[in-house]
Amino acid sequence: MIQVDLSGAQRFFTQAGPDFAAVARAHDVLTSGSGLGADFTGWLHLPQKIKETELDRILAAADTIRSRSKALVVIGIGGSYLGARGAIELLRPVLGRGDPEIFFVGNGLSADALSDTIEKLGGRDFDVNVISKSGTTLEPAIAFRIFRELLDKKYGADAGKHIFATTDAHRGVLKSLADANGWESFVVPDDVGGRFSVFSAVGLLPMAVAGIDVRRVITAAIREFEALDMRSPENPAWQYAAARQNLYSKGYTVEILGCYEPSFRFMAEWWKQLYGESEGKDNKGILPASVEFTADLHSMGQYIQQGPRNLMESIVRFTHSRHAYPVPASDDNADGLDYIAGRDLAEICNVAAEAVREAHIDGGVPNIVINCSARDEEGLAELIGFFELACALSGYMSGVNPFDQPGVEAYKKNMFRMLGKPGAV
Ligand code: PA5
Repeated sequence: MIQVDLSGAQRFFTQAGPDFAAVARAHDVLTSGSGLGADFTGWLHLPQKIKETELDRILAAADTIRSRSKALVVIGIGGSYLGARGAIELLRPVLGRGDPEIFFVGNGLSADALSDTIEKLGGRDFDVNVISKSGTTLEPAIAFRIFRELLDKKYGADAGKHIFATTDAHRGVLKSLADANGWESFVVPDDVGGRFSVFSAVGLLPMAVAGIDVRRVITAAIREFEALDMRSPENPAWQYAAARQNLYSKGYTVEILGCYEPSFRFMAEWWKQLYGESEGKDNKGILPASVEFTADLHSMGQYIQQGPRNLMESIVRFTHSRHAYPVPASDDNADGLDYIAGRDLAEICNVAAEAVREAHIDGGVPNIVINCSARDEEGLAELIGFFELACALSGYMSGVNPFDQPGVEAYKKNMFRMLGKPGAV
């Protein structure tokens, strides 16, 4: 299970400290289904409820793709791709020999980015997993139209066999298209919103294609959600949620999530969406930002150390490194590094992390450490379960509905009007 270390935040808390009574109430409201947005809390039981037949179908689809294609194109935006991308880049930064390359498109409107991807794809055999709960989001819808055309040209009458659609069980254009064309389809459950959907086919199919053991992920996620049901200040999700809300009440309005593993980059993007979209409403919310250490110490480090003092920092640490890299010995010590010769890079990184922590706390930045066992299937499931639960609890503590995103509609309304969509005003 995740371990949260709040010792670096202690001196910044209010005198009363994190409000565990409030987080306990939030937990009860969440699990009793009596809170705002209760219709969208199905993610709490997603790993337990996923049917064996559904998992079998996901794995069979992944096998088909892996055996015949050199690439999978995942089309989706926001919660419909960030979890899968975060998981794949964290666990499989270097794909195994024979694993298909995974491309993510439909998460923007850049003609250049799309064309670059198509160029990289080249003449390879590929499959498409189009993911959209609503089935109407413009960015993935355009990319899907373009990739359907590519599939038609490449595979002719068999093009539809290369399409896997993950969408709502009952509604939406994508659902209608999938039914009409007989594409293999997977469901985003009614009671699960995009950003909480990683443990459904939304996250699991691309993960399985990339070679991640999704049964292991689900088994670990079931265990994690059971453990996180603990009603006690020992619960790491309680600690994280209560600490953030306490610091927010003291004017720490920006949270920087950092990690010393560059492969964590898209997990941080997933986290930003999870917390930004869930909490940033009703004129409230902690602004989620992210950094990659130690690289960003040489770009953002100055700001974190001495900029405005409204920052809190949460650092994800993996207890075990996958590799060992001792600093080589030298004959002449010309580069002056002999004082660390023979010491492992992972050990040096740990020292750097301690040094940074001490400096940032001294500089007035509350520090929370989120310790995760390893960069593997279990660690992934622990992180996702922990962040999801803490996000819901933190949102309820601040009095917002963590499961809607009404603000996202504003730009869409303008864009559709400007593009001349029929009926748009
Ligand atoms: O969390 C959310 O609900 C959103 O980020 C959606 O996932 C995102 O807007 C994409 O929506 P859809 O899956 O309907 O295309």
